Amino acid sequence: MAKLMHISASPRNSDSESLAIAATFVDAYREAHPGDEIEHWDLWDGTLPAFGPTETDAKMTLVRGGTPTGEAHEAWEAVVAAFHRFDAADRLLFSVPMWNAGIPYVLKQFIDVVSQPGLLWGFDPQTGYLPLLQGKKAAVVYTSAVWAPGLPPAFGTDFQSTFFDDWLRWAGITDITAIRHHPTVLGDVEDSRQTATAAAREAAKTF
Ligand SMILES: Cc1cc2nc3c(=O)[nH]c(=O)nc-3n(C[C@H](O)[C@H](O)[C@H](O)COP(=O)(O)O)c2cc1C
Repeated sequence: MAKLMHISASPRNSDSESLAIAATFVDAYREAHPGDEIEHWDLWDGTLPAFGPTETDAKMTLVRGGTPTGEAHEAWEAVVAAFHRFDAADRLLFSVPMWNAGIPYVLKQFIDVVSQPGLLWGFDPQTGYLPLLQGKKAAVVYTSAVWAPGLPPAFGTDFQSTFFDDWLRWAGITDITAIRHHPTVLGDVEDSRQTATAAAREAAKTF
């Protein structure tokens, strides 16, 4: 039995384009894989640990070969628990709005929390980073309202999918399906929404 985890980064609830497209994906996935477990991790629900001074202290202590103690030890346990929550799923659906050309800060926070040495990555001084995640695949719903492929730079630059795709590959997730909804301001929003929704439904059937 596989486990699908939907990790969502839009706080806009019923107004959200990415959540609506992801909901179609999840419904179609459930229909096609009735025995699979499905979990939704809304990154705004307060369960994602912070990654501030105590957590960075713990991380750098570990990177230097030490052992975090006291407050840093406790903070690190929460970070490791968040990694294992994420790592328990072999199929991942991310819904990712474009915010200021990049990703919402809560998704960057998620990346900073789960991207840990010995868990998500290793390092070889001769060859560089070593991705540690194995056997996972990801579908990613990307949305924006101004930027769209093919528009001039005045409409923005895509640091959203370029950054996120790079993070997935760095972590070892190379089987990636992108589902895009980029209607831009003068575009046909409904047409773009329907195309993305159909793509989500199709992708979910064989995911
Ligand atoms: C804080 C914020 C920043 C945004 N920045 C951009 C941007 O740089 N480029 C763009 O095309 N759209 C931008 N948008 C528009 C969103 O990408 C668009 O509304 C998208 O549908 C949001 O996804 P959601 O509906 O799932 O929340 C921004 C929206 C918000 C709330």
